[in-house]
Amino acid sequence: MCGIVGYIGQQEAYPILIKGLHRLEYRGYDSAGVAIINPDDRLNIYKHTGKVAELETFCEAKDIAGTVGIAHTRWATHGEPSDINAHPHYSTNGKIAIVHNGTIENYNVLKQALIQHGCEFVSQTDTEVVVKLIEYIQTSNNCTLLDAVREALSQVVGAYAIAVIDSDHPDTVIAARKSSPLVIGIGDGETFIASDASPIIDYTNRVVYLRDNEIAIISRNEPLKVITTDNKESKIDIQTLRMSVSQLEKGGYPHFMLKEIFEQTETIFDCVRGRVVNDTIKLSGVSDHPDRFINAGRIIIVACGTSWHAGLIGARLIENFARIPTRVEYASEFRYANPVINSDDVVIAISQSGETADTLAAIKLAKERGAFVYGVCNVVGSSIARETDTGTYIHVGPEIGVASTKAFTGQVTVLAMLALAIAQLKGTASRSQVAEVARSIQKLPELIKETLLLNPQIEKLSSTYTYVHNFLYLGRGYNYPNALEGALKLKEISYIHAEGYPAAEMKHGPIALIDKEMPTVVIAPDDDLHEKVISNIQQVKARGGSVIAIVTRGDTTIPKIADHVLEIPPVPEALSPIIAAIPLQLLAYHIAIMKGCNVDMPRNLAKSVTVE
Ligand code: M6R
Repeated sequence: MCGIVGYIGQQEAYPILIKGLHRLEYRGYDSAGVAIINPDDRLNIYKHTGKVAELETFCEAKDIAGTVGIAHTRWATHGEPSDINAHPHYSTNGKIAIVHNGTIENYNVLKQALIQHGCEFVSQTDTEVVVKLIEYIQTSNNCTLLDAVREALSQVVGAYAIAVIDSDHPDTVIAARKSSPLVIGIGDGETFIASDASPIIDYTNRVVYLRDNEIAIISRNEPLKVITTDNKESKIDIQTLRMSVSQLEKGGYPHFMLKEIFEQTETIFDCVRGRVVNDTIKLSGVSDHPDRFINAGRIIIVACGTSWHAGLIGARLIENFARIPTRVEYASEFRYANPVINSDDVVIAISQSGETADTLAAIKLAKERGAFVYGVCNVVGSSIARETDTGTYIHVGPEIGVASTKAFTGQVTVLAMLALAIAQLKGTASRSQVAEVARSIQKLPELIKETLLLNPQIEKLSSTYTYVHNFLYLGRGYNYPNALEGALKLKEISYIHAEGYPAAEMKHGPIALIDKEMPTVVIAPDDDLHEKVISNIQQVKARGGSVIAIVTRGDTTIPKIADHVLEIPPVPEALSPIIAAIPLQLLAYHIAIMKGCNVDMPRNLAKSVTVE
């Protein structure tokens, strides 16, 4: 939700800022802006509604010179997307500029107080309040920019990652964070600031992840200094990035989403690597805390969106193999539900980005109430990864497309390994049961490769469904959450309304919707419930509906009744959602492309939801 970039050094800031904004555009893309202090110490600010490319056009022939600057790509929270509401926001004297990711909850109280002091506002944003507050404090207390920022932050309630520049102090950038991510890249005589490491990796792999309530003082030609908001010096922990520039590029694919779907052969290999050893599962997050899992009374999974769907599959895996009662909660509901949490509960938080505000809040609540919290994250060093007691990274590499694809299959793979690791520990699954699934986990990359061969067939059949208005997705058992996920994929990128249901629930209501205008995707691999799903397909066909069925290769019944059949390779039932997810992803992708939608940046969405 909003991306921030900052630069101070010897190079021209503008190209670095713009390139960084492009990398962060997945976080928000309704407007963008830059603020640069030029060589005459004048602060130039350019902002424009729309994507970063539109800002670039707007900046043509403008004074963009300068070696210090900040920039922002926005996902609107306070105030509609507009030139005025775009960041950077600036002080009344036009000298201080700020970019902000997060939300200031008490902005209205602060705004009213500043208005009483004669302050005027031009935008509807919460961020303008922060920069005007900094200016007010600086003027009234006659203090340094740093002291003014520190004092302002002590008055602010909410979440923020900010970067501030002041044309009276052109050799310094002040950055701070609380509950929104901020990374500082340490180069040679230059320093970078960004919401994640992607704008930094081209220049340096040495980074510092700012912690909550820390303020970084980044001065030209001086070492980085970090203090806390209560003015204590913080220890600087420089980490080495394990990311490559190629992971952030499309690599010949027309869209990140397609690249990420096709990458799953390798991403699942990376996810499994070193974790299946001699037909057993090795997860240090489990083996380092055996008592927590052996004595767990219950497991509660918290997540949002696609990660929540992965959680539903995870719960079934854990109950099936590890025999621990497991429930799955939307993090946004859990945090406000006053949930009963016991000290012998294990809470599993699933998040690709590791920055989702609701999931982070759910973790904090669970920890306060004494639960042990296990993270399943993708982004290394993210807030959720750091906030949890332990966990497992899914290691699928940066996911840029807003629609989650490779992260979903990575999450389900980790949850399958987690269920088996707990089962080994508790003895709830036999050695041979674990070995059988473990061996199949190792074969997943090969099976994914085979499944991706469906792409041309799916592309062709997508043209039949480009202009329908509704879709139904049905699945049972492990594949019921996959029906939800398939529906979410389609609606978020193609804007076609879609609903996922457990197949047997169809007769309790949704069947009323079925007619020849309403196609149904049925996930029907060869499993224990196969016969029952065949009856559901018959019910759809009897009402004139068309059926796209995902079946196991060799199925002889469904091809006779379904309109389109997508064959996936045989795979054990517990792992079938990983393979069946792939045709669902490809179907959503091709339908959206045929409708002319921007699949990587669908309207109204952002990759990382760091606000409530
Ligand atoms: O980063 P997270 O996994 O915590 O994100 C959760 C959801 O915001 C995310 O899965 C969202 O639903 C995606 N757009 C789905 O494709």
